[in-house]
Amino acid sequence: MWLANLVAPAFLAVLASASPFEKSEGLAKRQTILPYTSYNGTLAYSPPKYPSPWGRGSGNWSAAYDKARAFVSQLTLAEKVNLTTGVGWEGEQCVGNTGSIPRLGFPSLCMQDSPLGVRFADYVSAFPAGINVAATWDRGLAYARGVAMAEEHRTKGVDVQLGPVCGPLGRAPEGGRNWEGFAPDPYLTGQLIGPTIEGIQSTGVIACTKHYILNEQEHFRQAPEAQGYGYNVTESVSSNVDDKTLHELYLWPFADAVRAGTGSIMCSYNQVNNSYGCSNSYTLNYLLKNELDFQGFVMSDWQAQHSGVSDALAGLDMTMPGDTLFLTGQSYWGTNLTIAVLNGTLPQYRLDDMAVRIMAAYYYVGRDTHYVPTNFDSWSRDTYAPIHAAVESQIGLVNQHIDARANHASIIRAIGQASTVLLKNNGALPLSGNEKWTAIIGEDAGSNPYGANGCSDRGCNNGTLAMGWGSGTSDFPYLVTPEQAIQNYILNSGKGEVFAILDNYAQSQIVTLAKQASVSLVFVNADSGEGYINVDGNEGDRKNLTLWLDGDRLIHNVTSVCNNTIVVIHSVGPVDVSAWYNNDNVTAVIWAGLPGQESGNALVDVLYGKINPGGKLPFTIGRPTDYTTSVMTTPNNGQFGAPQQDFTEGLLIDYRGFDANGIEPIYEFGFGLSYTTFSYSNLVVTPVNAAPYTPFTGQTSAAPTYGTVDTNVADYLFPNGTIERVPLYIYPYLNSTNLQASSSDPDYGLPANQYLPSGSSDSSPQPFVPAGGAPGGNPGLWATVATVQATITNTGKVAGDEVVQVYVSLGDGEPPRVLRGFERLTIAPGASVTFQAELTRKDVSTWDVASQNWVQVSNPTIYIGSSSRKLPLSAKLSGGSSSGSSSAASSGGSKSTGVPVSQISDGQIQATRTAPPVSQISDGQPQSPKSTGS
Ligand code: NOJ
Repeated sequence: MWLANLVAPAFLAVLASASPFEKSEGLAKRQTILPYTSYNGTLAYSPPKYPSPWGRGSGNWSAAYDKARAFVSQLTLAEKVNLTTGVGWEGEQCVGNTGSIPRLGFPSLCMQDSPLGVRFADYVSAFPAGINVAATWDRGLAYARGVAMAEEHRTKGVDVQLGPVCGPLGRAPEGGRNWEGFAPDPYLTGQLIGPTIEGIQSTGVIACTKHYILNEQEHFRQAPEAQGYGYNVTESVSSNVDDKTLHELYLWPFADAVRAGTGSIMCSYNQVNNSYGCSNSYTLNYLLKNELDFQGFVMSDWQAQHSGVSDALAGLDMTMPGDTLFLTGQSYWGTNLTIAVLNGTLPQYRLDDMAVRIMAAYYYVGRDTHYVPTNFDSWSRDTYAPIHAAVESQIGLVNQHIDARANHASIIRAIGQASTVLLKNNGALPLSGNEKWTAIIGEDAGSNPYGANGCSDRGCNNGTLAMGWGSGTSDFPYLVTPEQAIQNYILNSGKGEVFAILDNYAQSQIVTLAKQASVSLVFVNADSGEGYINVDGNEGDRKNLTLWLDGDRLIHNVTSVCNNTIVVIHSVGPVDVSAWYNNDNVTAVIWAGLPGQESGNALVDVLYGKINPGGKLPFTIGRPTDYTTSVMTTPNNGQFGAPQQDFTEGLLIDYRGFDANGIEPIYEFGFGLSYTTFSYSNLVVTPVNAAPYTPFTGQTSAAPTYGTVDTNVADYLFPNGTIERVPLYIYPYLNSTNLQASSSDPDYGLPANQYLPSGSSDSSPQPFVPAGGAPGGNPGLWATVATVQATITNTGKVAGDEVVQVYVSLGDGEPPRVLRGFERLTIAPGASVTFQAELTRKDVSTWDVASQNWVQVSNPTIYIGSSSRKLPLSAKLSGGSSSGSSSAASSGGSKSTGVPVSQISDGQIQATRTAPPVSQISDGQPQSPKSTGS
């Protein structure tokens, strides 16, 4: 709250200095008076939930908690504060760094993007984006990518990888950052984020699952950014959602992330029901730390913190990058957190819990045995550069140029292959390699004239698209373009001629080339990214689903003269294909997504049949007007009110909306062809006698504290004689023994009851919630309640992969069908395999708002098939029991042999299965060279 007065000048400074915030287009817009519309509905409300649950070492966190408690018990107040607070934007070498504890040799922790590699570093790999992992439908590849990415983070000296992403989930198809995550289906996302986290953390690096929660669009995510674009909004957008939708859709994959042990979670910029993501006691204290029993720590997104003590009480554990806004030199925490504990505003137990949670994540992944000092610099590629880039001070060795890539190119290529989705094939593919004349057409086939990394954070759309833009990127070590790879292939095979035209607007040359071609490969794309970069008027989010660079016209020009046109799409999500997908001259269509550095190689493997495509669409491709949701681009609540984005579609996003509204998509969720065919038969759904579901009961212990707080204020003064103060750097120290003078808070001294929520400092035992009890939620939710079996036969002539999908109808008030199982199977020609999946209790339950628990649906219908619309087999699951009875729940559940479920429908088609003196705290980075006193 005290920042109200501080924010204005600080934020103006940011606007003036940070160019990404103020594009000329934004300026122009700002100078025109935008009309305000006002919001007429009742403003959504997020109920207060206090106190913040203290970590208890539940699940498999107990050993990590023992170590963390022992560690934190030795710390001084200022040392604890240093663990929780970043040193400020560009204060050290990573995109975020905490303070250090030199007395114990404990270094600053390094937080580094991204979800697809190491951002801002050399000699690292550019992995396929999350959306491509989703298109593989392969948990094993998700795990392998997690391991490989995190090995690179570890080699570079990163402690926390800022990924993976399951928020945005992908509510709006134009959402700018959807591609960083997996799919707009919570089950698919949850099934892939879990192995990704396990892979990352198996290497000793902490995963940071982000952005929690409902961060579903870039527009208005942050007021300063929006103002830079000319919008007169002063608060972040509020995503307004009901409890059922929250649980069944948006919270679902976060539950899987917590269950997989994610060490940290990043709270988001947006508001949730009119309470900021990092201040929201309902989403942080109640949902995340109580219901999901999250044992790790909550980190703020960069500048997503909006208040000091109240955010700590609402459940925030670490502030990043530490300053209120970039380069203000002020912090809501740091000095102010020290003051808050000294003056009793923040109970010691809450600060101790913050520190214990951070250290528990550290020990949970084994960071104590895997530590590598940071050896790269986010702010410079020079070997020697300022250690404190914010103020350009202390030149030191910042880049050691260590090659972290190992043999990761092979996993990147494998994911590229496996994520390629064949949408149409009139026999044109695979190519034989003997084509007499191959035309490669379209800018998306070639190189960025500025070089693959020529646009900072990939903030342009030049050349082939292999990742979106923003903080979710890494630099390419190289980028094999489709043009290079196809040309190489043809030249090496020694047959045919190959020509490329990479200028989409060279119309007459394109027509001349395509006329003579035996096959024309036309490359088109659509890009998006993070909101701080505007590419061609796309302010993070896409303006529409239209292909970029006049892709429709490009395809038209080629198809008008070439009857063997193969379209390859690189895109961040669905695109509008309606103008050409059913043109007879379009003989094949491939969606290749964002494949990373091996783009061209992976594509060639599929085009020429080395690999049989088996990817499936992780979203729906429909006509643009047929989606139930879109990005909100006009503020609707006046200048001073937060834009209100009501999620009125509830559960009906993506395929669920198409299904509910009876709208035929063009290519449905889960769809993808193969060079072979599959048939489905013999569905058997067998109920399993799981132990009854038991609501979790009981209460916590009283809040523990670790160590005692030295209350002698003078001990916390800045240790002038010991360390040199770095300007703008955030410290835990006081500037004066007068706490008020030290705080810079104009509201200092306000009576606590005017700003501290009731119960927020309560340390007495607290009740658990019924759906809680273990990381991820009540363990009984993962009891197996049914098995699903079917026979899948490869009816073609080549081996191929089939992703067998299980959908469930959960009855009234639910989407017609929801995904609840899948497995990617490799099947030899003529062979049959048995697909097998287990349905958990949660899979066949819906959220009951009244009891605040999951309730199992009786007799749901189970479907199995090759996509969300090709479901040849179905059966009722009988014998499902309702929740609410009493005996202890167990995650295994006892499995009976059960009785095969009677009703099996037809059976045709293709598809799958199964404290010493404070003065000893340095400026935060013991491994950095000391100041020369300049
Ligand atoms: C803001 C982005 O939203 C987040 O994803 C990223 O990790 C941080 N910036 C740090 O770069």
